[in-house]
Amino acid sequence: MSAEDRSGGLQVRGVGHAYDEQMVLRDIDLDIADGEFVTFLGPSGCGKTTLLRVIAGFIEPTMGSVSIAGQDMAGVSSHRRPVNMVFQRPTLFPHLDVFENVAFGLRVDRLPKEEIAERVGWALDLVRMPGYERRRAVELSGGQMQRVALARALVKQPRVLLLDEPLSALDLKIRLEMEGELRRVHRETGATWVYVTHDQREALALSDRIAVFEHGRIDQLADPMTIYRRPSTPFAAGFVGNANVFPCEMHGTGDSSVARLADAEVPVGNADVNGPAWLVLRPESIRVEAKSADGVPATVRDVAFRGTGFTYRLEVSGLDDLLKAEVAAEEELPFELGSEVRVAWSREAAIVLPREE
Ligand SMILES: Nc1ncnc2c1ncn2[C@@H]1O[C@H](COP(=O)(O)OP(=O)(O)OP(=O)(O)O)[C@@H](O)[C@H]1O
Ligand SMILES: [Mg+2]
Repeated sequence: MSAEDRSGGLQVRGVGHAYDEQMVLRDIDLDIADGEFVTFLGPSGCGKTTLLRVIAGFIEPTMGSVSIAGQDMAGVSSHRRPVNMVFQRPTLFPHLDVFENVAFGLRVDRLPKEEIAERVGWALDLVRMPGYERRRAVELSGGQMQRVALARALVKQPRVLLLDEPLSALDLKIRLEMEGELRRVHRETGATWVYVTHDQREALALSDRIAVFEHGRIDQLADPMTIYRRPSTPFAAGFVGNANVFPCEMHGTGDSSVARLADAEVPVGNADVNGPAWLVLRPESIRVEAKSADGVPATVRDVAFRGTGFTYRLEVSGLDDLLKAEVAAEEELPFELGSEVRVAWSREAAIVLPREE
């Protein structure tokens, strides 16, 4: 094998897929570099698992092609691709114990006994399951099964690892721990990882780049900070960071641009858009102040305590949707339901995207 053949780079070109005439993936173009950690993020049913299965070779796409390490994968069966997949619903051999489940692929590869024992031990440590070697798969909890499935994929040390919501069955505390572990394992193995989640927090924390999916298409592909700070579509803005997205009208340009939002003129940053636009406001960039302050009048319709602060839902006259605001607690009591307040934000915090009428 040449050096190039061992690389885990991955190209997806013009991939589309239909199940029973129903298109669920369209125009997917994707270049993933060797060693990169790319996350597919999107709501349920947007095609994330389907694309992962296309890459793994479980599905022949209706159109387009996939190459791995510079080789076209058309007609290459899944077990001959340099790829391992952790499935959304883990499938372990129910009556084999944990050790044998993890060791399975290594036994198929006829590795020496000592190496198998060593690598299985390494993988079980990684997923925090040492001591479970002799437990049968049917005797595990859902989260434990997920971790064994993860160990089974990691133990093979593939060049390309595809992970379909591998942490979804775990509780938040273990999930946060596992995130740190996954980052470390990714760094240490240097492999290419394609990771699927619908949890935006997880995507932001783990990825080199995130592909935001909407209805079978990629809306935006960029690094986490760009996705968060400069979303390119209203969907990406609303899905990542739970932003407020309101239709507005833009007037003026550059520093003097103003947005008309319902009945109010509101400040926005350096926007190049004129006419119909979307105004994107992150909940944490909104200030909620007493009625006497400057800003847009609003009425408190809901308030929830979330430990580090309060989450408000506010009615702004002329807007169909409530405005979400997250403010730090600072030992103050929140405004009560029905309070008349003002909402405000800095120019820089307002993101403007063009809107087609
Ligand atoms: N085997 C199948 N036959 C027919 N339709 C399917 C099949 N598998 C998935 N679909 C449909 O294709 C679309 C995309 O499914 P997919 O499993 O790729 O979504 P997903 O993004 O992984 O969703 P989730 O987050 O719920 O796992 C959905 O509308 C789904 O109902
Ligand atoms: Mg899925």
